[in-house]
Amino acid sequence: ARFDVDHLPECDSTNSELLRRAANGGPSGLVVICDRQHAGRGRRGRHWLSAPGDSLTFSLLWRRPERQDLSGLSLVVGLAVAQALEALEVTGIGLKWPNDIWRENAKLGGILIETASGGESLVIGIGLNLRENPGWTHDAGRAVTSIEASGHLIAREAVLASVLLRLAATLDQFSMLGFPPFREDWNRRDAFAGKPVELSGDRERIEGICRGVGDEGALRLETASGLISFNAGDLSLRIR
Ligand code: ATP
Ligand code: BTN
Repeated sequence: ARFDVDHLPECDSTNSELLRRAANGGPSGLVVICDRQHAGRGRRGRHWLSAPGDSLTFSLLWRRPERQDLSGLSLVVGLAVAQALEALEVTGIGLKWPNDIWRENAKLGGILIETASGGESLVIGIGLNLRENPGWTHDAGRAVTSIEASGHLIAREAVLASVLLRLAATLDQFSMLGFPPFREDWNRRDAFAGKPVELSGDRERIEGICRGVGDEGALRLETASGLISFNAGDLSLRIR
């Protein structure tokens, strides 16, 4: 894969920017990184907080050779980010299903994947905390962490290069083989494995013990009525 990186001093959201460019014929492999993101988004319109110098916020446009099952994509992207950080000697990296990067019980980063051009193009957005900004814990309403908290601050460009390199190999493999080859590597980094959790969606709410992910990336919960698998959708996981 080949990447073209476009660096913007500011924008609303790198995902929104790439969705617009995708509609105007932007090429696969186009990356937009932005210093000051005014309206960073998570899932379901939740906010992603960032600050110039303290954050890495970027998105990648990926045009798929053919339509394929996308369940598992946010998991393999998370795994690629985890492996890229590990290659930079960031310690304690874990993954939280379906789209969070964790480090020692706190959130270090998130992934937001959106589709454009009727599903033919994907915009993969990644936000990582390089160092903590005092406002974040307050606004996010819970503990957040950063790369710096793991012992050393790494230059934003070095993190970006490492993630893109890993992502290129991961996306190639995922488009050929799907999620199964990544399952074990994901489960090994599962931050919630064996923990009692509450899984909530718009209407349902279910308690259980996390038992990793299956071959398609569905979360397996051990509940009072047995082992149940859940597809990502809009579900949120919380420790009980
Ligand atoms: P979670 O289970 O963490 O809510 P989620 O995938 O459901 O994960 P999203 O719906 O994508 O989360 O929304 C992003 C969430 O991330 C926000 O609700 C906020 O609590 C949190 N957040 C926002 N900015 C940061 C940040 N810089 N670092 C860590 N967490 C953040
Ligand atoms: C999450 O926490 O679950 C997802 C957060 C994703 C944030 C990144 S920052 C770069 C890209 N642009 C956005 O507006 N969101 C993503």
